[in-house]
Amino acid sequence: MPAVLSPHAPAQTFEIRPLDAPLGAEVIGLDISKPINDADFARIHRAHLDHHVVVFRGQQVSPDAHVAFSRRFGPLEIHVLHQYHLAGHPEILIVSNIKENGEPIGLGDAGAYWHSDISYKPKPSLGSLLHAQELPAEGGDTLFANQHLAWEALSLTLQRRILPLKAEHSYLAKYEELRAKNPWRPKLSQAQVDQVAPAVQPVVRTHPETGRKALFVSEHFTTGIVGLPREEGDALLAELFAHSVKPAFVYRHRWQPHDLVFWDNRSVMHLAAGTPDHLRRKLYRTTIQGDTPF
Ligand code: OGA
Ligand code: MN
Repeated sequence: MPAVLSPHAPAQTFEIRPLDAPLGAEVIGLDISKPINDADFARIHRAHLDHHVVVFRGQQVSPDAHVAFSRRFGPLEIHVLHQYHLAGHPEILIVSNIKENGEPIGLGDAGAYWHSDISYKPKPSLGSLLHAQELPAEGGDTLFANQHLAWEALSLTLQRRILPLKAEHSYLAKYEELRAKNPWRPKLSQAQVDQVAPAVQPVVRTHPETGRKALFVSEHFTTGIVGLPREEGDALLAELFAHSVKPAFVYRHRWQPHDLVFWDNRSVMHLAAGTPDHLRRKLYRTTIQGDTPF
C-alpha cells in the first residue's frame, strides 16, 4: 500500500543530511512507499522548511506511491498540459525529452528558464516532487536558487524600493518562443489558455509557514512590474533576475537513479540545466497546491 495517513505506523530509520550548498538536504533510509508515522512526517516537513529542497535517495516506488506521498503535503495540481499527463495519473506530469513514434512523450523543455512552479496562478504551488525514471549519462542537472538568501543579500535601499511592489506573472510569457525552438509545446486550446490567465503576485513574498521573506520574480513567468513605466519596470526586473540566481545562492542537483526531489516553490526557483538531444531523460512530477502569496 502506498503511504496513507498512518499516525501510529512504526518509525522508519532514516537520516537527514544537510548538503554542503546554499540549500538542500538529503534523506537516506526512508522509503516513501511505506507507512510514515506522524513523528517521521514532522521531521520531513521540518527538513523541507529548513532546507527548501529535500532529496529522497533510492526511491524505487510506483507512481501511486509518489502521488500518495505528495498528497500528504496538500491537494495536487493538475497541469494545464494534459497532453503530458501520465496515463491513468492526471496528477503526474511527464518531464521528458523522449519521443516515441515521432511524438514527444513529455514536456522536454520544462524549466528552460528560472522559475517557481505555477507562479502564474493566483495560488502558486507549495512545492513539487520530481522523481527520476530515466537519466542521461551526462547533463540533465537541475539548479535551485535560494530566494531567501537572494532577498537578504539585497541592499537596504533596494529592499525598501521593492517591498511594496507587485508583478504580473504569465504562463504564456515565453510559450511561443519555446514553441518555435522545440517540439514539446503543443498549440494550446482556448480552454487551456483560459486556465492560465495572468496573475499578480508580490515581488517579495512572505513564506506562509516560516515567515521568512523571499524574492518572487522569475525570468520565465514575470512579465512586468505593476504601476511602473515599462522601461523602469523591465530594468528593475532584469536587475532582480540577475541577482536572484547568483552562484552563492545556487545548488546544482546531479541526479542519481531513483532520486525523488521535493522543493519548496515559496523559497526557491529552479532551472533545468539541459540535456544533450541524443540522450534520454524522463522524470515524473507532482505539484502541490499552495496558498495566495502575501
Ligand atoms: C519541473 C522543472 C526541471 C528539470 O519539472 O517543474 O522545472 O530539470 N524541471 O527537469
Ligand atoms: Mn518547474
